[in-house]
Parts: sequence; C-alpha cells; structure tokens
Amino acid sequence: MSESLLNIENFDAYIVIGILIFFGLMEVIAGYLHRSKRTSSDWIQEVGSFFALAVLIKPAIVVVVWALGNMVFPDAQSVLGHWNFWILLVFYLLIDDVLQYWYHRSAHEYEWLWKLHRPHHQAEEMGFFVSYRNAALYYVIMPNLWWVALITFLGGGASVALGLILKQLIIIGSHSRVKWDNFLYKYKIFNPLISVLERIIITPAFHHAHHGKSIKDGISDPNGNYGNTFSLWDQFFGTAKFTRQFPIEYGLPNDPKDKWTASYFYPVITSDIPDSEIARGYEKQDTKTLEPTIVELEKGEKYLWCQCGHSGNQPFCDGSHHGTKHKPLLFEAKRTGKVKLCNCKATKTGPFCDDSHVLVHS
Ligand code: FES
Repeated sequence: MSESLLNIENFDAYIVIGILIFFGLMEVIAGYLHRSKRTSSDWIQEVGSFFALAVLIKPAIVVVVWALGNMVFPDAQSVLGHWNFWILLVFYLLIDDVLQYWYHRSAHEYEWLWKLHRPHHQAEEMGFFVSYRNAALYYVIMPNLWWVALITFLGGGASVALGLILKQLIIIGSHSRVKWDNFLYKYKIFNPLISVLERIIITPAFHHAHHGKSIKDGISDPNGNYGNTFSLWDQFFGTAKFTRQFPIEYGLPNDPKDKWTASYFYPVITSDIPDSEIARGYEKQDTKTLEPTIVELEKGEKYLWCQCGHSGNQPFCDGSHHGTKHKPLLFEAKRTGKVKLCNCKATKTGPFCDDSHVLVHS
C-alpha cells in the first residue's frame, strides 16, 4: 500500500520498535523499571494502548483513507510522487507537528477532549511507554494520524517513513526517564549546542515540565509546552517554558485512580468513581461566590489561586481547571496574616479582592 524506506517492507515499524527497545533497555539498565511505581493497571494501559495503536488504529485509518481516496480522488494517488524526498519530508513533518500541537493544546482546553487525553497525565512517573497512554478515541480522531495516511496515499510514503522514525525518536526520548539532555546542561561547552537544539526539537526537560503536577515548583507547566516533535510552535504561540530542570512530582492533583478500562475506553465505559471527571453525568461545579474569602497566609509560602471558578477548595486551585482555558495564578505571600482573596474571579488585582464583586452584584 505504501512505498517503503530502503525498499524494506515495514522498515520504519522495525526502527520504531527498535527505538522503544533501546529506551526500554536504558531504563532497565538505569534501574528505573526496578524502582517503578507503576501498578499493573498502568502497565496494561500503556503497553495495551501501544499495541492497539500500532496493530489496530493506525492500520484502520490507513485502510479508510486509501479506500476513500481511491473512491473519491483516484487520480490523486501518488500525485506527490515526483516531489523531492527531502522537501516532502519537511512538508510532512511541519504540517504533522502543527496539527499535533493544536490537537494536543485543544485536549487541555476543551473538557470533552481532555477526558480522552487525561490518562496521559495520570502517569505519576515518566517512561518510554507513557508516550502511548491515551484513550483509544483520542487516537482515532487524532488529525495527524489521518494526515500520515493521506500523504502516504498522495505518494509521500518513503518521506513519511523517515519522518515517523525521527518523530518517534524525539517523542519517546522526551517521555523517557533517560534524560539524554541532562549532561548538556551541566557542561558549559555544550551550551551553544543545547541552546540551538532546545529551540528546535522537544527535549526531555521541556516535555517533562508539561507532565509536572503543579506550577508551584517553578518548573512544571501542564498548561504549556504542548509541542511533540518541534518546540517552534510553543515559541510561536506563546506557550513555551524553558527551565532546563525536571519536575519533582508528576501526575494530576486529585487523581481518583480510575480503572484502566474506563480510562482507555471512555466514553464507551465510564468510571464508577462518582467524583471522577469520566464518571457518567459528571459536571464541573461552579464554585465562584460573590463574596471574597478571608484566608490566613504565611509569609514566604507559595499558593495557587483558582482562576477557573471550578475548584472544590476555593479560593485555591485543586486541579479542576484541566480541560478549560484557565490555569491557576501562582503567588507568594509577602506577609503572614489574613487577606481577602477574590472568589468572584472578576478582580483586576488577582489574587486579591478589589471589590469587583460589588459590580457583579449590581
Ligand atoms: S482549580 Fe485550578 S484554576 Fe481553578
């Protein structure tokens, strides 16, 4: 159905499996798997999701695109076949990555899509298999998987094969606990190299920050660093955060620990945990109030003020903003004592009340 790299059938698939084995072995040698906190449910979800994607979902998308293509645009097959291999590679990769940037970012900003992406962020430690941890439906509607099939139909098979290898190398590398970029930060001599590299491709430090539990550590940014292969889009669209450090804690605040069946098969199977975002009939609560909340703060302590209005722990953030366009505001208390924190979320001087609620009242 597609051209193959070096004329070896499924060459790209072998290389991708090779990359996984390489990072897997590195994690074993480094002792990470031995010390892993993963439960059997985590393993089932990550390994199962990888095989379902490789063996069922991707091939099904290719079959559908080829069948539709041949039916509707039969003359378009191989229309890009005369393009230069390298131009086609760059063309494929850039379109693929900008599609994935916006899809991934939307998965953090829209609740229905967040519920399909949420399993990816429930992982409490990084690892090469975390790359494949999402609900099945997340992959079925992922635009760039359809783009891969389309460009293969149009004649770009060989360029796509190499592109997939490069992409997987970067993505699996950026999820792995083997932080290949760490030594580049330590030695000054590598500074020019990593300074250029991190501005082009996704490094482990850049992506680990996206998986960090809370922005309180000054490193994590789950509402940023959305890129998959290139960091260009984050820089261009204002969501990049470079710290060259790694979060201490990964995962979600208030994770209800749903069964893997609900996480993977949502919305067909829902969670039996009532407070879970993927439970049947779950709705985000509006917890804003028209009065400020008086709280006792301690000088030098850092706090996260809720800006989304859904926290169950107002006026502070409890992670309920996931799946919205809001994120918490991090602030440090300048003195110990009582303050009025805004709870109508209309203040212009967040986190502090500026009496905007009076206007909201009237
Ligand atoms: S719960 Fe985090 S900003 Fe509202």
